[in-house]
Amino acid sequence: MSSKLILGRRVPVLELNDIRVNYGAIAALHGVTLRVPKGKIVTLIGANGAGKSTTLRAVSGLVNVRSGSIIFGGAPITNLPPHHIAALGIAHVPEGRMIFSNLTVMENLRMGAYLRKDKGNFPGDMDYIFSLFPRLGERLRQSAGTLSGGEQQMLAIGRALMSKPKCLILDEPSLGIAPILVQAIFEKIVEINRTTGVTTLLVEQNASIALEISHYGYVLETGKITLQNESTALLKNSEVRTAYLGAE
Ligand SMILES: Nc1ncnc2c1ncn2[C@@H]1O[C@H](COP(=O)(O)OP(=O)(O)OP(=O)(O)O)[C@@H](O)[C@H]1O
Ligand SMILES: [Mg+2]
Repeated sequence: MSSKLILGRRVPVLELNDIRVNYGAIAALHGVTLRVPKGKIVTLIGANGAGKSTTLRAVSGLVNVRSGSIIFGGAPITNLPPHHIAALGIAHVPEGRMIFSNLTVMENLRMGAYLRKDKGNFPGDMDYIFSLFPRLGERLRQSAGTLSGGEQQMLAIGRALMSKPKCLILDEPSLGIAPILVQAIFEKIVEINRTTGVTTLLVEQNASIALEISHYGYVLETGKITLQNESTALLKNSEVRTAYLGAE
C-alpha cells in the first residue's frame, strides 16, 4: 500500500476550522475547530446553551458562518444552501426530531430518499431500516405524530438513513426518550456505524453514554472547544467527570 493511500485514510470526512457564528450581535460560536475521521463516531458534549446545536446547524447550512471554514470530503461547504449540503451526503437529525407528524411512517421514510440521485433500491433500504427498528415496520401506515417519543426518534434516524448519507449528524437523540429506550437508541447508532460505516457526529447532554459509544470526543463550553481526546480518556478525565458525568 502506498504512503499516499495511508495518509489519505487519515483525511477527515468532516472538518470545522475555527468557525464563528453569531445570532444577531451575540456570538454563539467563538472559533470551533473539530475533525470527524471517516467511519468514526465523534461526540460533542456540553451544557445547555454551549453551542452544540449551533455547531451542527452550521455544518448543515442552517445558520450563517461568519468566519472559518467547513470542509466535507475535501471540499468547502461553508454557507452552501442546506439542500445542497444534504445532497452532498450530510444527513442531519435535528433536536426535537422534526418528523412530518401528519404523514405516515412510510411517507416520512420516502421523504428521506427524496434528495437521492439513485432512486434504486427502496425496498432493500426500507428492509434495512425495519431490521434496525422493527417497530417502524409494524407501524408503516400510522401517522408519525401518533408514535411514541422513542419511535419518533427511530423514524427520524431511519429517514436520515434513507438518504444514504456519508455523514450522519445527530442532535441529542436521547432527548425526551424514556430511559429504557435510551440505551437501545445508542446501541442502534453503534450498529448503524458498524454496518454502514457512516461517519457520525453526535451531540449529547447525556455525556456518559455518548462517550461510551464514540471513538473521540470534544467538550464545548460557551462556544469554544475546551477539551478533546479519545472518548475512553475523556471518560477518565477528572474535569469531565465532575462537570459532565456527575462524579464527586
Ligand atoms: N435562533 C436563535 N436566536 C438567538 N440566539 C440563539 C438562537 N439559537 C440559539 N441561540 C443562543 O445561542 C447559544 C447556543 O445555543 P445552542 O442551541 O447551539 O446550544 P446547545 O448547546 O445546543 O444547547 P442545548 O443543550 O440546550 O440544546 C445559546 O446561548 C442560545 O440561547
Ligand atoms: Mg441543542
